Amino acid sequence: MKILVTGGTGYIGSHTVLALLESGHEVVVVDNLVNSSEESLRRVAELAGKAAVFVEADLLDEPALESVFGQHSVDAVIHFAGLKAVGESVQQPLAYYHNNIVGTLNLLRAMDAHDVRSIVFSSSATVYGEHNPIPYIEKMEIGANNPYGRTKEQIEDILTDLGAADTRWHVALLRYFNPVGAHPSGRIGEDPQGIPNNLVPFIAQVAVGRREKLMVFGGDYDTPDGTALRDYIHVVDLADGHVAALDYVATRPGVHRWNLGSGRGTSVLEMLHSFEKAVGHALPYEITSRRPGDLPAFWADASSALADLGWSTTKTIDQMTEDHWRWQKNNPNGYNAS
Ligand code: NAD
Ligand code: UFG
Repeated sequence: MKILVTGGTGYIGSHTVLALLESGHEVVVVDNLVNSSEESLRRVAELAGKAAVFVEADLLDEPALESVFGQHSVDAVIHFAGLKAVGESVQQPLAYYHNNIVGTLNLLRAMDAHDVRSIVFSSSATVYGEHNPIPYIEKMEIGANNPYGRTKEQIEDILTDLGAADTRWHVALLRYFNPVGAHPSGRIGEDPQGIPNNLVPFIAQVAVGRREKLMVFGGDYDTPDGTALRDYIHVVDLADGHVAALDYVATRPGVHRWNLGSGRGTSVLEMLHSFEKAVGHALPYEITSRRPGDLPAFWADASSALADLGWSTTKTIDQMTEDHWRWQKNNPNGYNAS
């Protein structure tokens, strides 16, 4: 199939483009490079032995989208493009709603106009909000508690309404848990701009000497070691989950939702200690106060993805930190000047 990947130069997108090329699909990437570099796709081409077509365009630019669909006969879309920093979304809600919601509406309208009605969408475990018991199950009521998460919830609603109104749509809503790691080659990985918000990229920058120490947000949670539990998933497993979802929806109309996670919780300190093993020495850290909005613990019930897609995670926490470290060590400044 020919797959249009929005946000395909980004962290999860670049690993998924590689998985698609390796599965024999043709790929067209649309990205405005607001949070990524085209260098990721050059390296994907090197790893795959073939290249994706790259179009630098913004999803807010309707004529540009129209011309992409006019020039390429696309069979399906994987939609990663969006802004994703929770804290920034609280400060700049209009920018987040505009970019994520309007960008998605433009994409869906262009797809409809060109008779392309298969889409795999990047949702997030954040849609489960604060009140659901763990583990999270797809049939639970959702309700995000920050603007970023609400854009995910609202896009899920838009796609659900579309699937109900027109049975020609094939929709997969993928709720990712905590993606970490990098391709085992060390050639592609996560390249956060500025101070990383997320745990593993922050630890990686401490390990490479770009940050002084890890601040562990909260040591007094009701968990085995007092630090918060999350369901970490290797980005290569996550990428494979997209290929599986795409294959599934290709022949099945309707709206399908799956958690993509491992089904296990790992603490902040367990993650740090695994990273230390990969690096070969201890890393400085300090336990500080809880981060506002953080939950003590959540993980996925991952049984639906296994039952429907035959997909489950294959990689361990140590593989995630080893691969993340290889990427960071080989590319201390990410895609810049390496
Ligand atoms: P990323 O920032 O690396 O990738 C997103 C890409 O979208 C970037 O390359 C960016 O340049 C592009 N983009 C943003 N707005 C655009 C626009 N208007 N037009 C064109 N391109 C645009 O982030 P990622 O971690 O790879 O995440 C991919 C998707 O997965 C996002 O939708 C994110 O919300 C979702 N997600 C990520 C996580 C995570 O922890 N990384 C967790 C759950 C869900
Ligand atoms: N943490 C630290 N120190 C840091 C960074 C994080 O102790 O410097 C802790 C957090 O408090 C949390 C855990 O590490 O307990 C994981 O934090 P992340 O920021 O890596 O991940 P979150 O679970 O908070 O958020 C992630 C994504 C969100 C998404 C959410 C739910 O970043 O986009 O999962 O899917 F909404």
